[in-house]
Amino acid sequence: MKVFITGATGYIGGSIAEMLVAAGHSVTGLVRADEKALLLKARGIAPILGTMDDNAILTESAQAADAVIHTASADHPASVVALVTALERSGKTLIHTTGSAIVADHADGEYATKTPLTEDSYFEPVPFRRARVDMNRYIRQAAMEKGVRSIVICPTMVYGTGRGLQADSDQIPKLTALSRQIGAGVYFGKGLSYYSNVHIDDLVDLYLLAMEKAPGGSFFFAENGHSSFKDLAGLISNHLGFGGKTVSLPVEQVIQQYGEYARLGAASNSYVKAVNARRLGWSPKAPSLADWIKSLPCV
Ligand SMILES: NC(=O)c1ccc[n+]([C@@H]2O[C@H](COP(=O)([O-])OP(=O)(O)OC[C@H]3O[C@@H](n4cnc5c(N)ncnc54)[C@H](OP(=O)(O)O)[C@@H]3O)[C@@H](O)[C@H]2O)c1
Repeated sequence: MKVFITGATGYIGGSIAEMLVAAGHSVTGLVRADEKALLLKARGIAPILGTMDDNAILTESAQAADAVIHTASADHPASVVALVTALERSGKTLIHTTGSAIVADHADGEYATKTPLTEDSYFEPVPFRRARVDMNRYIRQAAMEKGVRSIVICPTMVYGTGRGLQADSDQIPKLTALSRQIGAGVYFGKGLSYYSNVHIDDLVDLYLLAMEKAPGGSFFFAENGHSSFKDLAGLISNHLGFGGKTVSLPVEQVIQQYGEYARLGAASNSYVKAVNARRLGWSPKAPSLADWIKSLPCV
């Protein structure tokens, strides 16, 4: 199968691309820089130079492929509209990557939600994430209204070493860097909020499975566990050799310094259960978040 991937140089897209190539698929990848294009080529991924704002390139690349996997951004409507429009009435697969911050609240570390949300749960997104929720709906509706086999995958906090050019994920490396700087595992407020998580290898498996057999219009959380931010800080502390010592920073600090994006990613509840993925036959096998962090060399 010929698959076009955006974000092919990134953590999620790069990992998917590697596994697709290994499985014998022909993969093209959107790339912004010449140097990275050469690196992709060396990995068996045919580079397509362009950005998410190059409508013509997205259109041509999507139409030349049997399936498209969009991982470059969960928040870029123009590229989503370009890809949906390019595939209109083709019946071809479009898998879009969103993120579980869509369900994140403003708990600010004060409490944990007791029950995980599933794909069928009602939730009211915080204003910062409403556009992302609307875009996911638009993509799923394309299955009913525009003849695209559109699928949305919603990763939680992804951990593990990426298989492509970008080895590091987002939240844990950033919390680790801050903890190293401070000399203790860092969390915000009381650190009680729950965030679900998934290993990158299991996440990639879900993309491959969804590409093979998910119905158009479907939506999948990707999750195989959860942790409070305080427990995560303890794990990071041990990994850094700080003997489990943790420290709380005021939530106002994360908001002032890093904005709403980090507030949701480091102090909210985003506690979900991947019911649809398991129904599809997804069976995560990678080490849990705690076991993965424990397996890292102490640095
Ligand atoms: N990692 C997680 O834990 C996680 C969890 C849930 C959701 N997500 C979402 O999943 C998506 C991918 O995450 P990631 O961790 O793989 O991020 P990443 O490692 O930063 O990768 C982003 C990719 O998108 C490309 N890109 C960014 N802007 C672009 C543009 N304007 N035109 C073309 N390409 C562009 C980057 O290219 P360059 O190499 O040129 O920078 C890179 O290949 C994001 O939307 C993220 O919010 C991630």
